[in-house]
Amino acid sequence: MKVTLSVIKADIGGYVGHSSMHPELLDKGEKCMAAAKKAGLLIDYHVTRCGDDLQLIMTHRQGEEDKKIHKLAWDAFVDCTNVAKKLKLHGAGQDMLADAFSGNVKGMGPGVAEMEIEEREAETIIIFMADKTASGAWNLPLYEIFADPFNTIGLVIASNMHSGFSFEVHDVKESKKIVFNAPEEIYDMLVFIGGPTRYAVKAVYHRESGEIAAVSSTQKLALIAGRYVGKDDPVCIVRSQGKFPAVGEVLEPFAHPHIVEGWMRGSHNGPLMPVAVRESNPTRFDGPPRVIAAGFQLSNGKLVGPLDMFDDPAFDNARQEARDIADILRRHGPFEPHRLPLEEMEYTTMPQVMKKLKGRFKDI
Ligand code: F6R
Ligand code: MG
Ligand code: MG
Repeated sequence: MKVTLSVIKADIGGYVGHSSMHPELLDKGEKCMAAAKKAGLLIDYHVTRCGDDLQLIMTHRQGEEDKKIHKLAWDAFVDCTNVAKKLKLHGAGQDMLADAFSGNVKGMGPGVAEMEIEEREAETIIIFMADKTASGAWNLPLYEIFADPFNTIGLVIASNMHSGFSFEVHDVKESKKIVFNAPEEIYDMLVFIGGPTRYAVKAVYHRESGEIAAVSSTQKLALIAGRYVGKDDPVCIVRSQGKFPAVGEVLEPFAHPHIVEGWMRGSHNGPLMPVAVRESNPTRFDGPPRVIAAGFQLSNGKLVGPLDMFDDPAFDNARQEARDIADILRRHGPFEPHRLPLEEMEYTTMPQVMKKLKGRFKDI
């Protein structure tokens, strides 16, 4: 029996500043989801948050990009925005870029990752959610999980994975997509996905069966709004075990934090720190960026879980490494590579400074 897993998220108001989420917003989100479950639209749901982003994890039989499911999420975000406004939270409704719902939340502000699957005998799912970073942050971990034998030994010694995976890569600026086969085409693929500002891994497929293995949200808020309105704070769903990488192989890339864009004012690079949900409160210099992982077993669409996957002392070294990287980067203050290259910064005073200094630039 087919089941669809939809993860739809939005920043609809931060507490305090952009660091976390007020419990009343989570309560409201929970109530909206419970009503939809009672009405039979959802099989099951889980409401959580990463930093200041509300995460609606839903299972249903409506398929991907379903109008009713997207409207349910949009309406829940509107209701939560009203709570945020009442509490005068910071940036209430910040990701709600459209005035009214029009059929699909894509392009309206919220981030979306969805997959319709034939539920296996045991269906293990890991949902990654990040705050203070951009879509594209999953490129490196997805590469490691599905194409790097130094991370995923199953690619070498498990016969059901040995044929590799294919990667659907999106050019988020030009709205184009291309599929690469790993392992044969990894050198070509890395030319693109090594530049995550523009190229993002949207989905990964098991080559032998063609089954979906992972899907991410690739919505770029700045491109949708045409101006800076907050970071994308992306999500990613990964299937695990059996013909897919084991849970430990899926989590392993996060044992060594990689550096992503999105820290302070969306204009700085910082380490992606893996944390338990309760620790996803980016307060140091509005960061450093965080990633949480919720693990579930699906049972006829029912979400059995979550297990808070990074709530494990085995990730303490990663957290320490992230703190060390954060210290090193912070020492650069307003200099690159902590600060993003000029053309990538979400906040800039360049036009006004240039205007003021016009006439003082002389030919050399
Ligand atoms: C938000 C973020 C924060 C804000 C900063 C300024 O995702 O990264 O660093 O950009 O706190 O926020 P505003 O402009 O809302 O006062
Ligand atoms: Mg925010
Ligand atoms: Mg956020």
